[in-house]
Amino acid sequence: MCIKTCIQDILYEIDQCKSIYELNLVKTKYLGKKGYIFKQIKRIKKLNIHERKKFSIKINKIKKTVVNQIYWKKKNFLALGNKLVQEKKMIDVSLSSQENNYGSLHIVTQTVRKIKSFFSKLGCKIVFGPEIEHKYYNFDALNVQKNHPSRNFQDTFWFNKNYLLRTQTSSVQIRVMEKEKPPIKILVPGKVYRNDSDLTHSPMFHQIEGLIVDKKINFSNLKWMMENFLLYFFEDKIKIRFRNSYFPFTTPSMEVDIFNKKSKEWLEVLGCGMVHPFVFNNVNIDISKYSGCAFGIGIERIIMLKYEISNIRSFFKNDLRLLRQFK
Ligand code: DAH
Repeated sequence: MCIKTCIQDILYEIDQCKSIYELNLVKTKYLGKKGYIFKQIKRIKKLNIHERKKFSIKINKIKKTVVNQIYWKKKNFLALGNKLVQEKKMIDVSLSSQENNYGSLHIVTQTVRKIKSFFSKLGCKIVFGPEIEHKYYNFDALNVQKNHPSRNFQDTFWFNKNYLLRTQTSSVQIRVMEKEKPPIKILVPGKVYRNDSDLTHSPMFHQIEGLIVDKKINFSNLKWMMENFLLYFFEDKIKIRFRNSYFPFTTPSMEVDIFNKKSKEWLEVLGCGMVHPFVFNNVNIDISKYSGCAFGIGIERIIMLKYEISNIRSFFKNDLRLLRQFK
């Protein structure tokens, strides 16, 4: 091959390269130890003095052109590669991997699940009810008197004179007892709403309601259940106190407190009691045959007590620093 056509071919081959890999192959083919240019350089020795000078000038010129051309082509590839990486069209495999940010269940969901797992072992089934509720289910049928302060505009979000955002999951007790005959064992998790907002109260929060109706359900059943649930939830580290209280839908009624070692105070954790005979009458359950007990737990409240969280708004801010603690 004459030297002139040879350089044209080499430059064409370089130009046709589609990657640095292909370019390296061309480089070895022409500039490598067994490559074409190297072979030509070896030939110089065999030429006579006149030809030698002429030929070596030529071959060195070719070598320089090829080296230069390969250098610029490579530079172009690298620049293009960086551009693609920047535009995220190509993966830069040399980068170290990023930290994986997996999501997790919110602590409210985790807690509802934990409570469910305790009571479902006692045979409770999970039921849900509407958040937009008629006053009959939220108040009347639960024996809440017409003049009870909780009905008033300051506490309840009313839509009109009949409908409201439920203030308690107790409303679902009535809906279930209207439809089902005892034995009834239910657990009702859900959102409730009250016009109240400060460090420990939020206009929306979560409750879980329990209702057990059967023959011979008594006060000791209720106490046993509440005590064992709290020992399970707070992991045996607590002192429990039952305190006489008032709820319109239960009699007798109790509030259950746990002792906070740090503040040396008793703190209320839940309300419970024996279902009021008036409530049973409203749903046509025969009080000579059946009795029942019920309880209501504020989910955010027990989480705040367990993990010493002071501001209820932390639950709704989606601050990863709080959420990550419960992964
Ligand atoms: N509904 C009550 C509240 O929102 C909680 C409650 C107390 C529910 C006693 C009950 C109960 O079922 O027996 O404060």
